[in-house]
Amino acid sequence: MSNILCIGAGYVGGPTMAIIAKNCPEHRITVVDINQERIDRWNSNDLPIYEPGLLEVVQQARGRNLFFHTDVAQATTDADIIFVSVNTPTKMFGEGAGKAADLQFWEKTARDILDNCRKPNVIVVEKSTLPVRTAEAMARILESGKSSTKFSVVSNPEFLAEGTAIEDLTTPDRVLIGGGQNETGRKAAETVAELYAHWVPRERILLTNVWSSELSKLVANAMLAQRISSVNSISALCERTEADIAEVSKAIGMDTRIGSKFLEASIGFGGSCFRKDILHLSYLCEYYGLPEVADYWASVVHINEWQTDRFFQSILHQLFNTLAGKAIALLGFAFKQDTGDTRDSPAIPLCEKLLGEHAKVRVHDPKALENARIDLKDMQGDVRFVEDVYEALDGAHAIALVTQWAEYRELDFERIYNKMVKPAFIFDGRNHLEHEKLFEIGFNVFPLGKPPLKHV
Ligand code: NAD
Ligand code: UGA
Repeated sequence: MSNILCIGAGYVGGPTMAIIAKNCPEHRITVVDINQERIDRWNSNDLPIYEPGLLEVVQQARGRNLFFHTDVAQATTDADIIFVSVNTPTKMFGEGAGKAADLQFWEKTARDILDNCRKPNVIVVEKSTLPVRTAEAMARILESGKSSTKFSVVSNPEFLAEGTAIEDLTTPDRVLIGGGQNETGRKAAETVAELYAHWVPRERILLTNVWSSELSKLVANAMLAQRISSVNSISALCERTEADIAEVSKAIGMDTRIGSKFLEASIGFGGSCFRKDILHLSYLCEYYGLPEVADYWASVVHINEWQTDRFFQSILHQLFNTLAGKAIALLGFAFKQDTGDTRDSPAIPLCEKLLGEHAKVRVHDPKALENARIDLKDMQGDVRFVEDVYEALDGAHAIALVTQWAEYRELDFERIYNKMVKPAFIFDGRNHLEHEKLFEIGFNVFPLGKPPLKHV
């Protein structure tokens, strides 16, 4: 039996440890965080994050071999394996501001570990997404004190996506573990691999060197985001040429060399990681003297911002170039369906632009209103958060669909149309709704990358 500790009880730390606890009942798993409110919610049935299937897994293991608390120092004392899953946001000050990774939370944990560990051999696992060669910095901090503990630093990046975290953790495409190339490093990587081998087939556990592991995580996110920006750029061309982006995506995705996933045009990708990780990758390239490579990856973020702006411009233009006093209802605020997470959601810049035009913004989301309120609290203007979707749409001039929640397809659009100001507009930022049907009801429909369906 080992004492496994995870520092950071967020979107990654909580679900990952719950799945390890479920599958490794002989180990004791403790998750700590400096945020008392988060920990209180992990200890209740009102979890701090919404993730389908998560509550059931937590309930199975909590109090048996899964524990949540805030005493980082005490929990570190007798830990054998420490996963570090703290946030690694983009640095907003000093050198590299707006691009580089802000590693202050990361370094603080390294120092906490050094001060408190008492076991003779401890494995420190990088779970957070980090710039290449961070493990080296961590190792140097851990070797700098008088501690008698021998530390091994292993990289084990997480590939779960929000909304499908439990499924992704239960049947991952791969588990990546990067270890040092000496005897101790290999042994540490193997110990982490053994944990996952409780439920993940061995052929899906990939062992590499630490630097490949760290870099692969950034590149995986950059390449996923790059596909979306590629498709979004082509959606603009489709709108000029009467081609249909859904047909183009299907046609190119059937080429097995390209594959069909991550080819859906959208208002722009969001989430806490894509933008941040591409900027970190781009900054790393600059740092290592590769400006052309840095620009190449930065353009993925530029196209993403442009796509959200294009969506806004279309609303402004179609509503006769004035939004002042008009009610625009947002269907969805989360950065994707099945999560309450709004970090870097395209809904945020969209609201800012709409409020800048003096529109009245009505926001609906089944799970993200709590976060939406926080995101928009400093924005000036007429914005309301509405729990009842029909109330949000009552008296609206236009609907902007931001998040592809399944329930939005089931709405009674006849009823909605009757309560909206005419001409009524729908801007579908996800190509999620039934456009022909909406057109027949009377809506002017503006999909992405497809010809619009207009009555006026
Ligand atoms: P998060 O902000 O939800 O959680 C991080 C937690 O760490 C917070 O609760 C914070 O209070 C805590 N923390 C910070 N400093 C601490 C300290 N010194 N001691 C104890 N706790 C501390 O972040 P997240 O979304 O879980 O992401 C964590 C890391 O995982 C990031 O590097 C991210 O890039 C990566 N990642 C995230 C996802 C995702 O879907 N969210 C997926 C894969 C990888
Ligand atoms: C993403 C990756 O998919 C995970 O593998 C990774 O672990 C994670 O980032 C991370 O490092 O944080 P996540 O951001 O949770 O996961 O969600 P995704 O499903 O990747 O969606 C990201 C954004 O892209 C969403 O806004 C989504 O709506 C958008 N998207 C996705 C599109 O616009 N089009 C698509 O075809 C797919």
